[in-house]
Amino acid sequence: PLIMSLFAEVPQAAPVAVFKLTADFREDKHPSKVNLGVGAYRTDACQPWVLPVVRKVEQLIASDSSLNHEYLPILGLPEFRASSSKIALGEDSPAVQEHRVGGVQCLGGTGALKIGAEFLRRWYNGINNTATPIYISSPSWENHNAVFIDAGFSDIRAYRYWDAEKRGLALPGFLEDLENAPESSIFVLHACAHNPTGTDPTPDEWKQIADVMKRRKLFAFFDSAYQGFASGNLEKDAWAVRYFVSQGFEIFCAQSFSKNFGLYNERVGNLTVVAKDSDSLTRVLSQMEKIVRTTWSNPPSQGARIVSLTLNTPELFAEWKDNVKTMADRVLLMRAQLKAKLLALGTPGTWDHITQQIGMFSFTGLNPKQVEYLIKEKHVYLMASGRINMCGLTTKNLDYVAESIHEAITKIQ
Ligand SMILES: Cc1ncc(COP(=O)(O)O)c(C=O)c1O
Repeated sequence: PLIMSLFAEVPQAAPVAVFKLTADFREDKHPSKVNLGVGAYRTDACQPWVLPVVRKVEQLIASDSSLNHEYLPILGLPEFRASSSKIALGEDSPAVQEHRVGGVQCLGGTGALKIGAEFLRRWYNGINNTATPIYISSPSWENHNAVFIDAGFSDIRAYRYWDAEKRGLALPGFLEDLENAPESSIFVLHACAHNPTGTDPTPDEWKQIADVMKRRKLFAFFDSAYQGFASGNLEKDAWAVRYFVSQGFEIFCAQSFSKNFGLYNERVGNLTVVAKDSDSLTRVLSQMEKIVRTTWSNPPSQGARIVSLTLNTPELFAEWKDNVKTMADRVLLMRAQLKAKLLALGTPGTWDHITQQIGMFSFTGLNPKQVEYLIKEKHVYLMASGRINMCGLTTKNLDYVAESIHEAITKIQ
């Protein structure tokens, strides 16, 4: 007898755009196809890159017979949590020395955002205060909204960030939105290499942002997915986070090691918590433990071991910084070459933003129709927003991509 499935009423969900784009790219048989959608580093030969330091550390771990597969503590590997927080806040951070910084080892940066969001819903601005406004930059990484909605927040708002006209930061709008936000609102701030715009506030602009946030009593939840990747320099890319802490803010900082260690599928992240005093920190961490226990119970060890061994061994740390710089430098080179090529072609528009933006992504300013043309006619895959991953460019496909962009812009308005 035919019995209807218990799940007959489940609606089909839309695919996640960036993964769908990659699937379409894989099916495309055209020899010149280029994928500028995916959010991962590629070498100049268009291949994924296992950082040499990671290969080395993986072998050290594999041959260390003192290691085993016992459960980690619920909050994670202690030396991983401590060293992660230290690269975010700085070796000599007073907050660290005052024992008011703690970490929660999480499953990637996404896990850190999720655990942080869950904690805030439960324990921030009253108990289970689902009405606390959450402000996400417009535009932002598309997962931000969903993570906070799924954590139970009901009032998700956009703050102005991108000025399309000037292809840069919409600072006046941003400051106005901070000014008008209800007290205790939560602002998700990209620590560096803003995704998708590649546009960060300058130190002076961050100071203005922090001033308003302090006066208006707003909470800063930093998302740090690209430390080192943006400028090639860990300190520079952590400037905003460190500045806020130096100004006395209590913050959360979701750190991802997916990009800067190339450990995408190991799911390694850390939620750094900076509290006013160590007593508050202890209570916060005790609640974090409850949340983790019912979420993944305890985290995986491999990625955390790789990161902590690297960060805690001076020679390996130096080698890692070198590897990160290799990635950042290749991105900077591709930016310069893409801009030069578009200028040489006389492509309408200004292209300074290509080299002004930093990190993995560039917000080209291409409109959805031009994007569609690039995908359909040129086999160049990019997000509908016009975001391109600079790592998808190589010395071999750069001319083709620039000529295709030129064609799309001159043919399609
Ligand atoms: C802004 C931003 N936050 C967080 C993440 C999540 O990183 P992970 O893969 O470590 O979860 C990403 C990854 O694309 C990102 O771009």
